[in-house]
Amino acid sequence: MKLKQIFDGIYSDGRKNYTENLVKGKKVYGEKLLTFKGKEFREWNPFRSKFGAGLKKGIPSPIKQGQNILYLGAAEGTTISHISDIVKEKGMIIGIDISARVMQKLVELSEERENLIPYLVDANKTDETKKELNNVEFDFMFQDISQKNQTDIFLNNAKVFLKKGKPAMISIKARSISQKSSAKILQEEKQKLEKEFIVKQSAFLEPFQKDHLLVYCEKK
Ligand SMILES: C[S@@+](CC[C@H](N)C(=O)[O-])C[C@H]1O[C@@H](n2cnc3c(N)ncnc32)[C@H](O)[C@@H]1O
Repeated sequence: MKLKQIFDGIYSDGRKNYTENLVKGKKVYGEKLLTFKGKEFREWNPFRSKFGAGLKKGIPSPIKQGQNILYLGAAEGTTISHISDIVKEKGMIIGIDISARVMQKLVELSEERENLIPYLVDANKTDETKKELNNVEFDFMFQDISQKNQTDIFLNNAKVFLKKGKPAMISIKARSISQKSSAKILQEEKQKLEKEFIVKQSAFLEPFQKDHLLVYCEKK
């Protein structure tokens, strides 16, 4: 089996996607490991990661080795672990989550992955995060937060942490917003985003994730 690079740090065997494991021999969420040309790769499961599902649905990855990434809704670090593989040692990911329970796992993960910095905070509290992350310039922001005001959280954080022209992605979960038809909700949320972002591409994440839209955009 051969692997071909499809985006910076992301590889495909034609069916599944992989990232090169930053911490050899270690799995993060039970994913398969494989060796190709002497290097170890971790399978990226699209059923466990919205970013991973987006790749399968044709959304490109703008992330490059060495970049600084802001990740809102880090949870236990499933998706973040692949981003950690992509940005490698010289990059950095700030992983924000409100839950102390999941943060415990993320802290353990950050002990093996030095480019990962967990931050326990409510993503609504941008004044607090701004003080902590004062001088950091981010190359990309990703959000996966299932809250009613998820689009506002994204817009508020982008206002503080993203410069004009920088890429960002949001996974919008329709059912967290209301019980209206998900197509209608997702359309309304996309329109909200368009006030401050140029929407480059979007995709429904079925069959990997139900009622989710992943939007890839660029700050105006
Ligand atoms: C669907 S999970 C994220 C899964 C993760 N993105 C992954 O692929 O590995 C959503 C996360 O958002 C977090 N969350 C919810 N509301 C939040 C808020 N206001 N600020 C920060 N995190 C929040 C939850 O604690 C939960 O861990």
